[in-house]
Amino acid sequence: MDVIVAGDRAELAKARESLGGGSIALVPTMGALHEGHRSLIRLAREHADHVVVSVFVNPLQFGPAEDFSRYPRTFDADLEACAEEGVEIVFAPSAEDMYPPDRQVSISAGGMGTVVEGAFRPGHFDGVLTVVLKLLNLVRPDVAIFGQKDAQQLALIRRMAADLNVPVSIVAAPTFREPDGLALSSRNRYLSAADRATALALSRALRAGAARETPGEILAAARAVLDEAARLDPPLLLDYVVLADPATFAPVAEDHSGEAVLAVAARVGSTRLIDNAVLRLS
Ligand code: PAF
Repeated sequence: MDVIVAGDRAELAKARESLGGGSIALVPTMGALHEGHRSLIRLAREHADHVVVSVFVNPLQFGPAEDFSRYPRTFDADLEACAEEGVEIVFAPSAEDMYPPDRQVSISAGGMGTVVEGAFRPGHFDGVLTVVLKLLNLVRPDVAIFGQKDAQQLALIRRMAADLNVPVSIVAAPTFREPDGLALSSRNRYLSAADRATALALSRALRAGAARETPGEILAAARAVLDEAARLDPPLLLDYVVLADPATFAPVAEDHSGEAVLAVAARVGSTRLIDNAVLRLS
């Protein structure tokens, strides 16, 4: 079956109708699809009868100095990937269709949206939650799939679904990595070969942390790798490395037991990268 491309909300409603019955899984994306997105789509297929992928570079989640205008847009290749993965509907609205000029109301991510990643990207999570809620309302999926790579985004989407009683199951997909450990990201295509070599320090730091026992030791081991990478050419410029509660993103105490997310963000050249690992502390 061919992929139905829905270019606006009305076309989406028609396309959704044409699916007949059965459950729906939504994979929200900003396009520039890579193997990681394909793994999300495959996971979606395991959870529902039909898969809808949204492709929308959401202006609301980019700060004024961020990469909205240069964010990779590869719609034809995205469509091909979706067809190969058996996606039924690709929803690719315009910004005007998603955000009519008279709109007033948006979602606030609350205090949890202002810490860790949110402290470096003011307003980012408000923009993410606003578009995700709109996509959920438009597609009305039974299940929505989000990558674990954006761990704080995932936690906030779960929080939003719980706090606003959104009738959807949120499913997390594991981070997809290159054989050398680099987490797949649409932004990896900005990296030169030298940038990429430096960027490997992120996953190396996570592995070094994961090999330790206590929060203090975990953070010290991760920081040692990141400090070393700050001396490379090009250098790794660290924004943060934290060990946080995966549900709230509050820092964990030294006597914490249970899950904790070791999250890191850094800039290499003109590219900002994030990565994380979920650890079990005893
Ligand atoms: O993770 C992303 O690609 C985006 O933040 C999302 C969830 C598609 C919202 O624009």
